[in-house]
Amino acid sequence: MDTFIIQGGVPLHGEIPISGAKNAVLPILAATLLTSEPCVIRRVPDLSDVHFMGKILRSLGASFTFENGTVKVHAKRVRDKGDYDLIRKMRGSICILGPLLARKGKANVSMPGGCVIGTRPIDLHLKGLRALSAKLDIKEGYIQAKSRKLQGNEIFLGGRVGPTVLGTANIMMAATLAEGVTIIESAACEPEVVDLAHFLISMGAKIQGAGTPRIVVTGAEELHGAEHDVIPDRIEAATYAIAAAATNGEVTLTDMRCDHLAAVLDKMREAGVRFEARGSSLKILPGGEIHAVDVSTQPYTGFPTDAQAQLMTLMLRAQGLSIITERIFESRFMHANELARLGADIAIEGPSAIIRGGKELSGAEVMASDLRASAALVIAGLMCSGRTQVNRIYHLDRGYEVMDKKLRKLGARVKRTKEK
Ligand code: UD1
Repeated sequence: MDTFIIQGGVPLHGEIPISGAKNAVLPILAATLLTSEPCVIRRVPDLSDVHFMGKILRSLGASFTFENGTVKVHAKRVRDKGDYDLIRKMRGSICILGPLLARKGKANVSMPGGCVIGTRPIDLHLKGLRALSAKLDIKEGYIQAKSRKLQGNEIFLGGRVGPTVLGTANIMMAATLAEGVTIIESAACEPEVVDLAHFLISMGAKIQGAGTPRIVVTGAEELHGAEHDVIPDRIEAATYAIAAAATNGEVTLTDMRCDHLAAVLDKMREAGVRFEARGSSLKILPGGEIHAVDVSTQPYTGFPTDAQAQLMTLMLRAQGLSIITERIFESRFMHANELARLGADIAIEGPSAIIRGGKELSGAEVMASDLRASAALVIAGLMCSGRTQVNRIYHLDRGYEVMDKKLRKLGARVKRTKEK
């Protein structure tokens, strides 16, 4: 297994481009199953999750190529049953269920597995598909879905903690080929949902309201092939912005969307970070003291759960007490124990982490547990004096394109080696 060796204490310095968004591209790739015509997707990040989705599409009978950030998919004919083990391993693969069912009238997709950040139920996906008149059974680990023709309906998709991102994607995709009008209430408003809607619209789908809590889809007879450029990854941008501030560096991020980062930038400003945000570029400036801030994660446009772990590392620099409350996933503080190995003082009280910042940090061997926790450990390693070894880097490779190379471009001393 690969590991990162980080010699910390160097402020990041320089300029890097932000890659295409992982969470936009996964449902967009699933949406290519809705048409028998070829699709071309550009600005696709080179991530293990993307290659994994490619494997899933191939296992369903589609052709899939990836070259220089461009993916070509042609799902001329597709099978209605996915490979059990492939699909089970990646949570994002649940979003093939809606498109397959809409295209084939039936779909057999394995139940996605659990995940270290908490239980990841799919009840809202199933509720939505049932409302579109699908018959669903869970048998032998598979979701078995059937419907001669999906029927449009009004669906309330809000859950215990608010909207569901992939649930909204799944139902929106299924509704594009349903008979009549579908209204999704309490839809997720994330930019990745909007990007998917743009792709679907370029395929001929009729969708209004994406980016608001009420999405209206008027079903079409069929969709055609399309080309699309994926939006920049706002979580990757948040990660490097926080890394720059945490090391008191001066970093410019390009090819990004500052408007997608409003909540993160607002918290950084409150923490005393100086920056210049101009449309597609963000410059983080070195500054003085970092102030402790409190934050609760929320659905978009609130502070994203996917940037919570990274913000926690910035708070390690703040004098005083900050409280970070996780409202989306119940076990998303796996990074706190690992940060403690580096000298951090963090107490977990229910859904909140209480961080006493300003402690001296020194390098150690730590273990990545999930994608964003890994990013937090890397940032902390960059802040520490001495050598930090972050094990199980495969988590990072799922969601950060060439992170070690990008960090080296910013002057970080990061080396990828095999775990000993
Ligand atoms: C997506 C993102 C993930 C991000 C998350 C929240 C992708 C590939 N992943 O995951 O990076 O952290 O949004 O922004 O896009 N829930 C239910 N029932 C369901 C579905 C979800 O109760 O059927 C709950 C979840 O347990 C969670 C909350 O709803 O508490 C939000 O989850 P959801 O938005 O569905 O996350 P994902 O779409 O899986």
